[in-house]
Amino acid sequence: HSLEELNSFRISAKAEAYLALERLDQLALLSDWRNRPNYILGGGSNILLAGDLPGLVIHNQLKGKRLVGQDQEFVYLEVAAGENWQELVLYSLANNWAGLENLALIPGSVGAAPVQNIGAYGVEFSEVCHLIQAWDMQQQRFCKFESTDCQFAYRDSIFKSLYPGRFIICSLVLKLRRQPSYRLDYGNIREEIGDQPLSIRAVAEAVMRIRRSKLPDPKELPNAGSFFKNPLVAAEKLEQLLAQYPKMPHYLQADGRLKLAAGWLIDQAGWKGKRMGAVGVHERQALVLVKYAEARGQEIVQLAEAVQQDIAQKFGVNLVPEVNYWP
Ligand code: EPU
Repeated sequence: HSLEELNSFRISAKAEAYLALERLDQLALLSDWRNRPNYILGGGSNILLAGDLPGLVIHNQLKGKRLVGQDQEFVYLEVAAGENWQELVLYSLANNWAGLENLALIPGSVGAAPVQNIGAYGVEFSEVCHLIQAWDMQQQRFCKFESTDCQFAYRDSIFKSLYPGRFIICSLVLKLRRQPSYRLDYGNIREEIGDQPLSIRAVAEAVMRIRRSKLPDPKELPNAGSFFKNPLVAAEKLEQLLAQYPKMPHYLQADGRLKLAAGWLIDQAGWKGKRMGAVGVHERQALVLVKYAEARGQEIVQLAEAVQQDIAQKFGVNLVPEVNYWP
């Protein structure tokens, strides 16, 4: 089955087998694949097809939304994993439910949100997560995860690091606020809102304008968003770096480590706007790798490796891909 239309890098690779998952009763029929490699595909906006896939691609297209509870502070909204994330954000704005406004315009599906704990502009998915319902491929049964079971961390969860391919997320229950609790401290959100009256819609629109100004639209220029994670370093390492680069951006984490801006490092090393054949480093956001013309996944792998080697050599910092390599 060709995957070209199903990944935002628009790499033409094939899967040994493919299933469009539209109903929960299809899950029980997957038992033959329980011990084979499985790839769970949502919007395809955070994967790099490095080659053809041996195994089964399960394309999650489960649809539906419903209100499952409410109390004074929150509404609890169940959303099927195959829904589109941005459509969900717009739906929450239309209902005046707060919590997703900083996460506007993130590409991909609802089911992918917990896997890599999507985050932007000072908010992470984990903050709105109440419950996750999934199908366990190994045990062949449905199971539930409370938010605290998921080991959410920066761009990470048990679904990504511990059990890739094991749990097919079927739906999420989100916990959205009746009254907004604004988060405006990241970057230039406040400036972007300016003197407009503050509302969740104004925040979402500011976030969308900022994103559109630097992140390439995958429909026009194939890409998978930030290609690497922002690296975490110890305080001593930061001090050494600051002695040489006093302007290096850094953000203190709860555990005392510092998060560096990978985009800044790559930019500083001279990669912004550089091309290697048909692929390159985006000209407005150095953390995004883009595909200008027909290319194989391996060409992007090679560019990524060249960037990683250079950053390791210049700054002594290891960049880890944020995008998932398949296979
Ligand atoms: N910077 C540069 N040059 C560049 C890019 C960035 O100097 O080419 C500097 C910026 O000036 C800023 C700092 O690096 O001082 C951080 O840049 P930015 O605010 O654009 O965010 P980022 O750290 O590059 C992260 C997420 C994005 C998310 C933004 C906003 C990761 C891996 N990426 O990017 O997420 O939208 O913050 O919250 O954490 C994604 O995951 O696909 C993604 C786009």
